[in-house]
Amino acid sequence: MAAPKSQACFLLTVLFVGFSCAFVNSSGRFGRSCPRTVTRAAAADRPVVAVVGANGRTGSLAVEAIAKGGLAKARALTRSGNWQPEDASINQEQFEVGQADVTDASSLAAAFAGVAAVVFAAAYSRGKTKPQDVDNAGLVNCAKAVLEQGVERLVVVSSASVTRPYAPVGILLNTIGSGVLSEKLEGEDKVKELFEGSESSYTIVRPGGLTMEPPAGFVELQFNQGDTYVGSVPRADVAAVCAVAASDPLNSGANKTFEMFKGRGRSPLLPWYRGKTRYMVGGVSDCSAMLARLRPDKEVYDIPGALPIGLADFEMVWARPK
Ligand SMILES: NC(=O)c1ccc[n+]([C@@H]2O[C@H](COP(=O)([O-])OP(=O)(O)OC[C@H]3O[C@@H](n4cnc5c(N)ncnc54)[C@H](OP(=O)(O)O)[C@@H]3O)[C@@H](O)[C@H]2O)c1
Ligand SMILES: *[C@@H]1O[C@H](CO)[C@@H](O)[C@H](O)[C@H]1NC(C)=O
Ligand SMILES: *[C@@H]1O[C@H](CO)[C@@H](O)[C@H](O)[C@H]1NC(C)=O
Repeated sequence: MAAPKSQACFLLTVLFVGFSCAFVNSSGRFGRSCPRTVTRAAAADRPVVAVVGANGRTGSLAVEAIAKGGLAKARALTRSGNWQPEDASINQEQFEVGQADVTDASSLAAAFAGVAAVVFAAAYSRGKTKPQDVDNAGLVNCAKAVLEQGVERLVVVSSASVTRPYAPVGILLNTIGSGVLSEKLEGEDKVKELFEGSESSYTIVRPGGLTMEPPAGFVELQFNQGDTYVGSVPRADVAAVCAVAASDPLNSGANKTFEMFKGRGRSPLLPWYRGKTRYMVGGVSDCSAMLARLRPDKEVYDIPGALPIGLADFEMVWARPK
């Protein structure tokens, strides 16, 4: 069995070198060019990942996940320009703080200068701001600033059910949330359009109902594509996934859109979607590997409709490799 063993060895070496090199080059970006001696980059040389909406519940956890992940320095962007970690183990070297309002394009240019990735975690707040301005136009402002500043990646926190305004959850959220799902979907679509032919990539994370529970951990999570399921998920898990999508050296989430929820308790968005998805990924402890198993958006095609008809080629392929 010498041959397979040496192949495995080779593969491990390649993976290791690929991974280590991707720890940033001297310009502080996620460059793949490999310096001769590879060491884990000192905190000061790490690429910077900015989080907009960093005072939000998910945004704040995303800043902490990036800071603690060790692959990048976090830049917490808030409207006030103030941010403090809740987690006392995070030190001043692991993050910086800046000001950004997604409705003010000029604030974004300065806030995104020199960053390698942006995580969009801003959202309207009921009674104060409108989804149209924050979740849609605000996201588009960020996407434009990302392209203008040559930022490599944009990770967007959107929502499950955005393409299902006719599902019970869709009806509910659009009604109580002033069309929030429709605005988020429009924003997503414009990001994809803007990024077409650019050198940047996007990752759109669509969580189910958010909770403040402790993180369930990657192995408990499921990612799906095609928007056929919903469930609940702790914000801490959403934040952890965003941190990986933004800083994973392989950029495994590039140009992918997916829903996420805890495997336990998830349910189909419409009763006739049950069991019918070929895109579910779960039971994996390595988030980057989970992202890698998702399909680029251009390959996600068997999207069922509002009615339980026309599902002929929407076959049941539940068993993705674990
Ligand atoms: N709630 C759910 O069950 C659910 C389900 C699926 C998806 N989602 C989505 O998940 C995301 C995160 O939700 P969350 O509940 O964690 O968020 P959140 O706590 O409501 O935080 C949203 C943050 O957005 C910021 N913000 C508002 N307007 C802004 C602007 N113009 N510029 C910059 N920042 C702005 C606010 O920052 P300030 O601190 O500066 O005011 C606020 O801290 C949202 O997009 C939400 O729609 C939620
Ligand atoms: C670092 O990476 C960037 C982006 O890939 C690249 O343009 C640049 O030339 C690299 N710098 C060095 C010193 O390798
Ligand atoms: C993502 O899409 C952009 C725009 O089409 C493209 O330039 C880029 O190479 C893609 N990235 C990956 C990793 O597929």
